[in-house]
Amino acid sequence: MKNIVILISGRGSNMEAIFRAMQAESWPARIAAVISNRSDAQGLDFARLHGIPAFSVINTAFSSRNEFDVALAAEIDRHSPDLVVLAGFMRILTPSFVEHYSGRILNIHPSLLPSFPGLHTHRQALEAGVKVHGATVHFVTADLDHGPIVAQAVVPVLSGDSEQSLSTRVLAQEHVIYPRAVRWFVEEKLKLENGLVHTLDNAEQHLIQEGCQ
Ligand code: GRF
Repeated sequence: MKNIVILISGRGSNMEAIFRAMQAESWPARIAAVISNRSDAQGLDFARLHGIPAFSVINTAFSSRNEFDVALAAEIDRHSPDLVVLAGFMRILTPSFVEHYSGRILNIHPSLLPSFPGLHTHRQALEAGVKVHGATVHFVTADLDHGPIVAQAVVPVLSGDSEQSLSTRVLAQEHVIYPRAVRWFVEEKLKLENGLVHTLDNAEQHLIQEGCQ
């Protein structure tokens, strides 16, 4: 049984998708804790309602990024994580924090990395005029929004799309690929070699939404 600790900052819909898939598919895993850097993160309510231990480590209570990361890691480590899952966790992490969880920390970013790292990815995609967009699950490294890619989902960019309509289309696919990637990790099906991630059973690591083919 693998322990997963999920970090959120807000809505927590990816956390919810992972929780629901885990329940429905009986993974050999449990969500040991959900931790937020904001006490008002909506996702904390979902976690508590479903009996998942939920905690806050409030970043504004610390005078430096490093102090916050040390406190956050202490809270995470109380739950003996095999895997740390960043699910809409809106904090830049220090290299020593990332190093501590090396090879056992995943993130989802709402773009087809390496395109559009950082914030406002849907706006960046619309402004660049790309015709496909999507989301990426990757191992976290000290390089923000980079790191070995585990899975990607591709969606079309349609004429008339707004940031909102595009983000809704991408989010629906995030809810498919993130649970899938976490399941691969807990079932020990991911192999990280020379910075590239493969699945042991050659499962498809991409998802292409209709309209892109
Ligand atoms: C998602 O789009 C995720 O890719 C990004 O932040 C958003 C979080 O949404 N990192 P939620 O909190 O999982 O609903």
